[in-house]
Amino acid sequence: MSRIVVLVGSVRKGGNTELLAKAFADGAGKDHEVELVSMADYDIHPCRGCNYCYSSEGHKCVQQDDMGKIYAMLKRADVVIVASPVYFYGISAQLKALIDRLHTPMRNEFTIKSLGLLLVGAAALPDLFDSILTQYHMILRFFGLKDVGTVLVRGAREKGDVLSGDGLKSAYELGRNLPPSSL
Ligand SMILES: Cc1cc2nc3c(=O)[nH]c(=O)nc-3n(C[C@H](O)[C@H](O)[C@H](O)COP(=O)(O)O)c2cc1C
Repeated sequence: MSRIVVLVGSVRKGGNTELLAKAFADGAGKDHEVELVSMADYDIHPCRGCNYCYSSEGHKCVQQDDMGKIYAMLKRADVVIVASPVYFYGISAQLKALIDRLHTPMRNEFTIKSLGLLLVGAAALPDLFDSILTQYHMILRFFGLKDVGTVLVRGAREKGDVLSGDGLKSAYELGRNLPPSSL
């Protein structure tokens, strides 16, 4: 059994990202321990780039916000799933803020082996996810992580649009059939 943290990048409760993340969690939860972490529920400030964490005790951040809870969850995680709406060809600012806060020596204590990616956007453009996928693959390579897979949903703008189409089924199946080589 692996411990999986799903980072939900939209603060729109009940939105498409959350639905995709929950479908993934339903699938993965049959065999694994899954924790959903919605940006709507945590107060996470952007990194200030002060490098205080490089010299502080326990590599603690100078900022007093909810990131301490996230570090604790990530220290226990084997797999992290990044779920985000597409915002101007990138991930949401809330999720980017969390990811930037991983620029800390504390991450050397993490034992994360693999990543997965769930994305949803309103447009139907073929290249809608290209810039996020480029970053994703560069991060996998840089940190030597395995790819558990991706689910990419186009054409979902309003809350619940992801219910039509096969996005939720794909997310469920990705969770249900995580590649053993990535666990
Ligand atoms: C600030 C902002 C920027 C967005 N930029 C894009 C974009 O570049 N391309 C796109 O296809 N959709 C874009 N969208 C639409 C969202 O990706 C889409 O509505 C998505 O389903 C929202 O997910 P959610 O329901 O989980 O919040 C944007 C939405 C917002 C609020």
